[in-house]
Amino acid sequence: DLAQAPVTFARGVDERYKAATPLRGLLNKVFPDHWSFLLGEIALFSFVILLLTGVFLTLFFDPSMQETAYQGAYPALRGTEMSQAYASSLHISFEVRGGLFMRQMHHWAALLFMASIVVHMARIFFTGAFRKPREANWAIGVVLFLLGFLAGFTGYSLPDDGLSGTGLRIASAIMLSIPVAGTWISASIFGGEFPGHLIIGRFYIAHVLLIPGGLLALISVHLGLVFAQKHTQWPGPMRTNTNVVGERMFPRYALKQGGFFMAVFGTVALMAGLFQINPIWLFGPYRASEVSSASQPDWYVMFMDGLVRLMPNWQIYIGDYSIPPLFWPAVVGLGALTTVPMFYPWIEARRLKDKRIHNLLQRPRDNPERVGIGAMAFTFFLVATLSGGNDVIADKFHISLNAMTWAGRIGLLILPPLAYYVSVRICLGLQQHDREVLAHGVETGIIRRLPNGQFIEVHQPLGPVDDHGHPIPLEYGGWVVPKKMNRVGALAPAIKGFFFPVELPAEAPVSPAVPPLAGKPEREEITTGN
Ligand code: HEM
Ligand code: HEM
Repeated sequence: DLAQAPVTFARGVDERYKAATPLRGLLNKVFPDHWSFLLGEIALFSFVILLLTGVFLTLFFDPSMQETAYQGAYPALRGTEMSQAYASSLHISFEVRGGLFMRQMHHWAALLFMASIVVHMARIFFTGAFRKPREANWAIGVVLFLLGFLAGFTGYSLPDDGLSGTGLRIASAIMLSIPVAGTWISASIFGGEFPGHLIIGRFYIAHVLLIPGGLLALISVHLGLVFAQKHTQWPGPMRTNTNVVGERMFPRYALKQGGFFMAVFGTVALMAGLFQINPIWLFGPYRASEVSSASQPDWYVMFMDGLVRLMPNWQIYIGDYSIPPLFWPAVVGLGALTTVPMFYPWIEARRLKDKRIHNLLQRPRDNPERVGIGAMAFTFFLVATLSGGNDVIADKFHISLNAMTWAGRIGLLILPPLAYYVSVRICLGLQQHDREVLAHGVETGIIRRLPNGQFIEVHQPLGPVDDHGHPIPLEYGGWVVPKKMNRVGALAPAIKGFFFPVELPAEAPVSPAVPPLAGKPEREEITTGN
């Protein structure tokens, strides 16, 4: 009987592999929904695009530094001596069908990948999603950022054009700046003097095998942890620290994710088709004696470049050895900037003496200090990144390059603390406004004159009122407080759930300082649909 065939097949599979129970668990898994949870998924989807387009490129790319005279389709370079790597990248760009499109897709996906990681990281940071029990996943995330950074750097070094060679030159200088071991490290990585004839082949293995392998393994652990620990959720009606409210994975959530993947894929494809990126044929082949002006790395590497440009010329001599200024921003700086943030969850927990488990997210304003620290970090990053292009800014706006350098140095010291102060004040102001609305109701803009001549502004209470019609102050539940009358009033439809926020104070019932024996908090799964 044909109708029974799928059933028989499925039963057969289950008898052999015992798949039904785990699969049912997976399909029924409840996932809370919020637009900000999409950011991690954009990172994931762009990684998949990188894998797909990267494999296509490997079919045509030749990671060899063997010199050859170009004989391809691009007339301006015909006859020019260049490496096979550069020639094969030109071949991909001009002769392979769809090759330029794939190269541009790969490059745009790399830029999107790094951007979505950074914004995802900001979401995790400002909402406190890294708090217990998710500290390890935060630390893994920081390593993922570092691996993405290395993937991008090794990737844009591969075509061996004028720009990528300049980047490699800087990398070699950074290695050489390490006291005592520097010359040894540089010589072993480049196989002798820079640039040697090995580096592209070595970077190739790192770029297509080692780094993607590491990323794949860590992303699997990352998502495995999200799955096992369950996702955080925003406070709101029904949502507590011990449950998770959302949609089942199947069918709606899975289909939605499929749709989002298509949307990301389509956007990257559209960008690759419409917007030029990394036109290597304009840069020419790399020669160790040449540096093109306005050589800028991809955006996620620019902060390093900027820090190097801002470093004062402080050469330190110890006996026969010297520590060049480059060492501090490039080696110590990058080391600190990638390792210190890794420990942030533990630092914050210690400072707040907070041993509780947090499955509910915080609104950024509810932790002003954290917002201040984040604003400080992003301002530092921004000044460093802008300084990575200070020659271009100086040229375009007719500013002296030295003035740009000094503006960067002073900005790097003064702007981050200023950002801290301003953002903390903004958070406190927002907090106070929330409390005012909860105590007095929403401002209506209607001014009433009382019989005694006094003018008052009419407030619309959010909750119950006392015998005199005054609102009974409500407690803050860690959730959005309506601020505009027409969002609460009868003229417009109520925003979903707005009438319930406060009677369900969603902040966690304080769990004991000692974690429960089972280690993992019990979280009941509640579905809202399907
Ligand atoms: C959650 C992917 C990098 C920390 C997630 C989620 C996905 C994801 C799909 C679940 C949905 C969401 O909350 O957005 C990735 C990928 C990355 C990456 C593909 C890069 C290759 C990072 C980085 C950090 C980080 C750089 C932090 C430094 C976290 C944490 C969670 C999470 C703590 C749990 C959030 C929660 O339950 O609310 N990640 N992520 N991830 N990610 Fe990432
Ligand atoms: C080139 C980034 C993964 C294969 C590149 C380029 C970048 C990049 C920025 C320079 C593209 C250009 O010429 O404009 C990344 C990132 C990755 C990643 C961030 C992962 C997170 C992969 C994977 C493969 C791959 C998994 C292969 C399996 C290649 C090849 C090139 C390349 C062959 C040289 C092609 C050429 O430039 O002509 N990559 N990539 N990549 N990538 Fe990747």
